[in-house]
This record gives sequence, C-alpha cells and structure tokens, in this order.
Amino acid sequence: MIRLGIIGTGGMANHHATQYSTMQDVKMTACCDISSERRTAYAEKWHIPHIYADYRDMLEKEQLDGVVNVTPDAMHADISIAVLQKRIPIFCEKPLASNLDNAKRMLDAARRASVPNMVNFSYRNSSGLQAAVEVIRAGTLGQLRHVESSYLQSWLVSHGWGDWRSMPSMLWRLSTQHGSAGVLGDIGVHIYDMTSFLCGDIDTIQCSLRTFDKGEPENRIGEYVLDANDSFVSTVSFCNGGLGTVHASRWAIGQANSLRARVYGDQGAIEIDLDRSYDEYRICKGIVNIDKFKWETVKAAPTPSNYERFVTAIKTGRNDASDFANGVKIQAYLHYSIEADKRGCTVKVEL
Ligand SMILES: NC(=O)c1ccc[n+]([C@@H]2O[C@H](COP(=O)([O-])OP(=O)(O)OC[C@H]3O[C@@H](n4cnc5c(N)ncnc54)[C@H](O)[C@@H]3O)[C@@H](O)[C@H]2O)c1
Repeated sequence: MIRLGIIGTGGMANHHATQYSTMQDVKMTACCDISSERRTAYAEKWHIPHIYADYRDMLEKEQLDGVVNVTPDAMHADISIAVLQKRIPIFCEKPLASNLDNAKRMLDAARRASVPNMVNFSYRNSSGLQAAVEVIRAGTLGQLRHVESSYLQSWLVSHGWGDWRSMPSMLWRLSTQHGSAGVLGDIGVHIYDMTSFLCGDIDTIQCSLRTFDKGEPENRIGEYVLDANDSFVSTVSFCNGGLGTVHASRWAIGQANSLRARVYGDQGAIEIDLDRSYDEYRICKGIVNIDKFKWETVKAAPTPSNYERFVTAIKTGRNDASDFANGVKIQAYLHYSIEADKRGCTVKVEL
C-alpha cells in the first residue's frame, strides 16, 4: 500500500483526492492545512485518518511513501525542500516555484535526496498530446520549422466563469501583491510546458506582456490592485532551429479554456486542440496529403494520468519526465519572458 500525505487542502487538492481515491493500492493517510476548517472538512470527505496544522509535524510523525504539495505557489519551495530532506518522493503543483532561484533550490534538494520528484503540468494528462510527442520524436515531421501555440481564456470579458469583480479566487490572479505573475504565471506555464514537450527546448525568447485597463476606478477593487499582466505574446526560437509564437490571454472572447498547438516540420505537421479532444491529434503528412492540404484525425491509445505516473514513480524509484528539472526549465521560460519584456529585446535562456 502506497501511503500519501497531502499538504494544502483547498480547491486543487480535491482534484488530486478524486484521482488517488480510485486507486486500489493507494491510501491518503495524512493531510495538512493551516486552515482548521479546510483540513477537517477535507479529512472527513476523503476519509483521511491523520490531520495536521503544520507540515513539519506531519513529516516528523507519519510514515509516508509520497507527499503531494498543493499549497499556493509561494509555499512550494520551502515545503517541497522539507519533504525532500526527509527523502520522501514529492509531487508538487505547478508552477514549480514563484521564482527561478527557488525553483533551482528545489532541484538541488531533489538531486541530493535522489527520490522521485514531479510537477503537475495537468495537460500532460492528454493522451493525444502524449501520442503527438512520440510521433514528433520519431522524426515523422522532419526538421522543425514553425510553431504556433496558445492558451486562451475569456473570464475578464465573460460571465461564463462568474463575475471576476466579486471573486477573490479571480482577483488575486490580477494582483502582483497577491503573488500573481499574471496570465504568464497562471496559464503561460502550461502552454510553455506543452510547447517545449512537443517541440524541444527553447533557446531565445522575445516577449510582450500587457495589462489592459479594466475600467475600475484607480485600477483597483478593494485590496486588489489590478496590475498583473493579462495577455502575453512571445516569439521563441528552439534549440533545434525552429521558430514559434507562444501566447495566452484572458481577453479571448468565445474561448473558455482553449489550448492549441500547431507544429510544422519540413515533412509534416501536427495539431493538438484540447478543446476538441483530449485523446486525438491531427496530422498532415505524406506527399498526397501535403499537396491536398489534407489532415487526418488520429485517436491515441490511453496513457497514464500524472497521478498514476507519480504512483508508478514511487513504486519504481524512477523519475517521471515531468520532473523538477523540467519544472526549472519552464520556470526559466517565465523568468526570461519577464526579462525580455522589461528589456524590450530578445534574451537567451540560461538554465
Ligand atoms: N495543475 C493545475 O492545472 C492546477 C489547477 C489549479 C491550481 N493549481 C495549483 O495548485 C496550487 C493550489 O491551488 P488551489 O487553487 O488549490 O489554491 P487554494 O487556495 O484553494 O488551496 C491552497 C491551500 O493551501 C493551504 N495552505 C497555505 N499555506 C499552507 C501551509 N504553509 N501549510 C499547509 N497548507 C497551506 C491554504 O490554506 C489552502 O487551503 C497552486 O500552486 C496552483 O497554481 C494547479
């Protein structure tokens, strides 16, 4: 039996629990939150026997095979490092940290502990994406030439997710003082991961970040100053020579939560559109199809979820591809996007 401890019992922790509770050989044996109301309700809902207010206490007293860190971004570093110092496998929510220095400290701790370490980039749960990555790595598209990838939401201009003006869960995402790195940190992290998973490492970034006027007096609502970026566009070059655009926005009317990537090589092209399907990709390859602009839809075989892959990593002791080293790389893309916007020029990604 794999014994898991959950740190942070808010919204996303319930999604984790939904997954682990269906696995026969996994048991959530302990949970921890600084909010007594939330930790008690969570333990009751998911039948977790041991409840803690302090994660250090939990790590001291429990025999755990793995820990899931679902606390807000600013707490990821200290908590994950404490877990790794106990040599316990860790599954940390995205983004790995709130800045590049902390992300690197976390990777150092993971290397010293030499236990599985993983970051939850949720869209890797898509079997269509996993299959498309395999096809590209097999060389089917030839040399990478051009990429366009985007993550589009519309909650600043739609009531489809509720009215952001009265929702603290949305308002903190618009305020740097509340720890937000804007749309870049919130969903840019996912689209950068998806793009580099498909196309390989990014070498240089040029990025423009924008914070548009939301029509609020003094650009604030109560304690929330609305200063975090809400749209970004990056031009990137890949280490393999390809060129691409990566962008995200909260102003994209008609889009609820749309992730899409189109990858063009000199022998074929692939499209992933997670709005349309999680378990399909489209491909255009072969001289006949290329000349007729014909795309085929391919249904992918099921692949394990991130949650299943974390449990497998615990059992085998082998790290997953979505490890802290990859988390640092994505954190570096965020870091250099901000640098590029500040400096107004193209910057090289240094890991
Ligand atoms: N992978 C995804 O697609 C995805 C989706 C949503 C959220 N997330 C990530 O999950 C994390 C949590 O987000 P959320 O939406 O669940 O937030 P949340 O605010 O609903 O929950 C966070 C919980 O952590 C608790 N907490 C804070 N400090 C703590 C500490 N020191 N020790 C123990 N508990 C502590 C809070 O009291 C709260 O209950 C964030 O990093 C977020 O970016 C990821």
